[in-house]
Amino acid sequence: MGLPLSEIPQNILTLWQIQKYSHLFFANGRSALHHLLKFLSPKTLWLPAYSCAAIVEAAQNTGALLRFFPITEQLLPDSRYLKKNIKPKDAVLAIDYFGRNPNTEFTDFAKEYSDIDWIEDRAQALSPGTAAWADFVIYSPRKLLGVPDGGILVSRKSELPRSKPPFNLDADFIKPSLLRYEDREETHNNIWHGANTAYEKSLAVIDFTMSRISHDILAATDPKPLITARQDNYRLLMQKLQNLALLTGDDNNFAPLGFPIRVKNRKKVAAFLHAKGIFAAHHWPELPCAPDAFVFEHELAANILTLPCDHRYGKSDMEKIASLTQEAVA
Ligand SMILES: Cc1ncc(COP(=O)(O)O)c(C=O)c1O
Repeated sequence: MGLPLSEIPQNILTLWQIQKYSHLFFANGRSALHHLLKFLSPKTLWLPAYSCAAIVEAAQNTGALLRFFPITEQLLPDSRYLKKNIKPKDAVLAIDYFGRNPNTEFTDFAKEYSDIDWIEDRAQALSPGTAAWADFVIYSPRKLLGVPDGGILVSRKSELPRSKPPFNLDADFIKPSLLRYEDREETHNNIWHGANTAYEKSLAVIDFTMSRISHDILAATDPKPLITARQDNYRLLMQKLQNLALLTGDDNNFAPLGFPIRVKNRKKVAAFLHAKGIFAAHHWPELPCAPDAFVFEHELAANILTLPCDHRYGKSDMEKIASLTQEAVA
């Protein structure tokens, strides 16, 4: 007997408007991006200097020449730099960092260049608050929602070539998310965190489709409570940790991945929080661009810490996280 997961009218896939456009499902986000780059075969792919290794991995063996562009203090693509450097038929990828999409100044700029293939990386974005702006959109529900796997490629420009990757007959990939799900009280973090880290390390560009279990969980999940919880948590952290917050501005219309802060002694603060059972993420330990060419981005990577504020948590968790963080930086 199959699992009786049934689709609801307003779900994660409808929120992302997957059915409205040509789309393909993959096992992870990097495989979705790899597939897109093979399809587009741009001579040059522009990546933000503040990117993760997975994105660079996705671009390998696609024939694209990788170039980097700077981002601003508020993690927006530097459109002046791009304007000077991009050429027709290039592809440019912009990341919705921590769930927030670029401002209209950037998206208006992108609209002016219809001879560029624009890619919006929504791997961190459950709901950026506005509609997708780029020609192509990448999702990584695995990263965002704890489903076992998944990467989605959406084209708002042209029909994607048909492709039907097989499903993965080895179900080991389900284990980390299952362990995490079963640990309702979160008292065995070390077990599932370890399993998840090993799984993340093993991730590669592979030719498997997203699993049916991940698809059906997305189709059966109402995003509204998840978005509201994330926004409420984020707002609370912003009130208590304004002195450390990386993103400023009162636009609380996006569903955050986490609450990024900048601290001088990143390692010490992370270790302090870890000892109290708070797992702050590091985005990202290594950047793929040259440190002397992109000083700001490398400094940011050295000082950043992402505090959890997703829908698993509530007000008392946020209060605890905020006061422990202030204690750690004092
Ligand atoms: C911004 C960004 N893009 C793309 C990816 C790749 O997604 P996945 O890990 O599902 O391959 C990640 C995650 O590592 C990411 O953080």
